[in-house]
Amino acid sequence: MDLQLAGKRALVTGGTRGIGRAIVTALAGAGASVVTCYRTDREAAESLTRDLKATDGNHHVVQADLRDPADVTRFVEVARTELGGLDIVVNSAGVDGHAPTAEVTIEEWRRVMDTNLTAFHLVTHATLPLLAEGASIVAVSASVSTRGMAGKAHYTASKAAINGWVRSVCKEVGPRGIRINEVSPGIIETEPGAGLPPEVYERMKGFASLRRLGTSEDVANAVLLLASPLAAYVTGATLHVDGGI
Ligand SMILES: NC(=O)c1ccc[n+]([C@@H]2O[C@H](COP(=O)([O-])OP(=O)(O)OC[C@H]3O[C@@H](n4cnc5c(N)ncnc54)[C@H](OP(=O)(O)O)[C@@H]3O)[C@@H](O)[C@H]2O)c1
Repeated sequence: MDLQLAGKRALVTGGTRGIGRAIVTALAGAGASVVTCYRTDREAAESLTRDLKATDGNHHVVQADLRDPADVTRFVEVARTELGGLDIVVNSAGVDGHAPTAEVTIEEWRRVMDTNLTAFHLVTHATLPLLAEGASIVAVSASVSTRGMAGKAHYTASKAAINGWVRSVCKEVGPRGIRINEVSPGIIETEPGAGLPPEVYERMKGFASLRRLGTSEDVANAVLLLASPLAAYVTGATLHVDGGI
């Protein structure tokens, strides 16, 4: 099936590793031009740049810390000057957080909130003037935010907030023909074994109805569907990509 993404102009945050990288690769493979960013991992950025050189399109990998409004402005400016506007914005950059509430310092709280929530607002605020009619915004949250998990209160709070944000923004941008949706991944194996001890890995697989962890490509495929004009009447929705946890 043709997702009708050829020639589209996309901005993806955190596209050099994990889920974001799979989204960038899939969008570029579908014929879109992609501007993406990373924070610190230059090696991953260089390897993505090499991969994108082998794919048709006008692609750019930019260093920007999305917690800094000036960096967000500089990053979005690349999309404006190089692509002339945007049809797709994917907010994927995020950080994990794992500590019991009693041990979460204000610095740790802000690290997680600033990256997982405030940056989504900053990027959307900066890209709204560039969006074409029919544009699609996708926000990557996390399905654990609806269930909760000990040691993840600040992380789940940052991700649960995405739901209310998406539901409200869809009402603001809908009259312009712009859609915004949420993709909510379960446990995704962005590295072999998901960085878990073998016994925990097996237990986590057992939580999913499909008895496996997700792949970055599983999430990217859901993002592409929501980015596609084929989802023209889908907005304000949450698509869980969690294998039926
Ligand atoms: N992996 C999972 O199991 C899972 C499950 C549910 C939801 N999610 C969500 O899916 C998204 C991607 O997760 P992932 O596991 O693929 O992450 P990842 O492998 O750690 O990659 C994160 C990407 O975001 C970038 N990034 C992080 N902080 C940034 C900042 N302040 N400014 C600019 N870029 C920044 C990273 O750049 P650097 O490498 O340079 O720092 C990297 O490119 C996140 O929102 C995460 O919460 C993941």
